[in-house]
Amino acid sequence: MHTIAVLPGDGIGEEVVREGLKVLEAVSAVTGFQYKTENYPYGAEHYLKTGETFPDSALRAMKDHSAILLGAIGDPRIEVGMLERAIIAGVRFGLDLYVNLRPIKLYAENLCPLKGVTPAQIDMTIVRENTEGAYVGLGGIMKKDTPNEVAVCNMVWTHEGVERVVRYAFEAARRRNKAKRVTLVDKANAIRPMDLWTRTFEAVAKDFPDIETDHAYIDAACMWMVKNPDWFDTVVTDNLFGDIITDLGAMLQGGLGIAASGNLHPGRVSMFEPIHGSAPKYKGQNKACPVATVMAVQMMLDYLGDSDGAALVEDAVGAALRKKTIPSLRAGDIATDAAGDAIVAELNELAASRG
Ligand code: IPM
Ligand code: MN
Repeated sequence: MHTIAVLPGDGIGEEVVREGLKVLEAVSAVTGFQYKTENYPYGAEHYLKTGETFPDSALRAMKDHSAILLGAIGDPRIEVGMLERAIIAGVRFGLDLYVNLRPIKLYAENLCPLKGVTPAQIDMTIVRENTEGAYVGLGGIMKKDTPNEVAVCNMVWTHEGVERVVRYAFEAARRRNKAKRVTLVDKANAIRPMDLWTRTFEAVAKDFPDIETDHAYIDAACMWMVKNPDWFDTVVTDNLFGDIITDLGAMLQGGLGIAASGNLHPGRVSMFEPIHGSAPKYKGQNKACPVATVMAVQMMLDYLGDSDGAALVEDAVGAALRKKTIPSLRAGDIATDAAGDAIVAELNELAASRG
């Protein structure tokens, strides 16, 4: 029996998570995936009521689950970034979830903003380092609000941290079994300490003679993702660079309404979430697109070993998008609950046809 910690969070989080769980229930009826969920209230409301963001006891509780499903965090009533740092970064760092896995796949041609690009051309996996870089919080501000103010933010990489995520990327390329190519994305020309990535990548590559290696600087990678997205198979990159290019990637597959991610430490409790934010203006309106959360559930199923269930969810989403029972990934084009229902309907139809 898998136990899943559910953190709906803020804004549209609750609505999209409800649809994610609806799809999870439907798929479990087909594949026999056994699970129970436990809800956690952390987010803006909880903070405003109790003054608590994400206590140590919450982090400890997370460790007793098989996986975590997160909706969205962030609320305009609260200081910028405070809840995101406490909860999202709190879990990523606290559980040492060193891989942020972000698949980018186009399911229907009409969803891609690029002219004439077909689903066959957009299918890549971005492996974002998730525990180092600019996110470690080493730095600060001095002489605040004076003309002499100084702000420092260090990007920190360790050999161990780079090695493990690069190794994961090579393994992921092998598991994907498509172009079998890993592209290292860095900025080692201008940021010379990133040479640690270059050397580590070369060293790890020796253990994977079946996988082709490739390299792009982050600026050029942005260009290539638009110009020749089909070139990318598996990408490995730093935390901040990965944050940025996965929003670009999300647009290639139709927008933030579909992009999902897994924060992983292989073999340990891991966290799955849509990559979008809490979109406070749509809160409670039944307008937000839940597909990204459904895809986060899909990644969670795969991680927890139900690969049939994961394939079924992916196929159901693809079918709903191709048949336009979900006409777009924009907020408001279809009600949140109707989009969840459309995916469940496709899923049941597919399951019946597969017997
Ligand atoms: C993401 C988000 C987070 C990040 C924010 C909310 C802290 O943008 O998951 O991509 O920067 O990692
Ligand atoms: Mn981001």
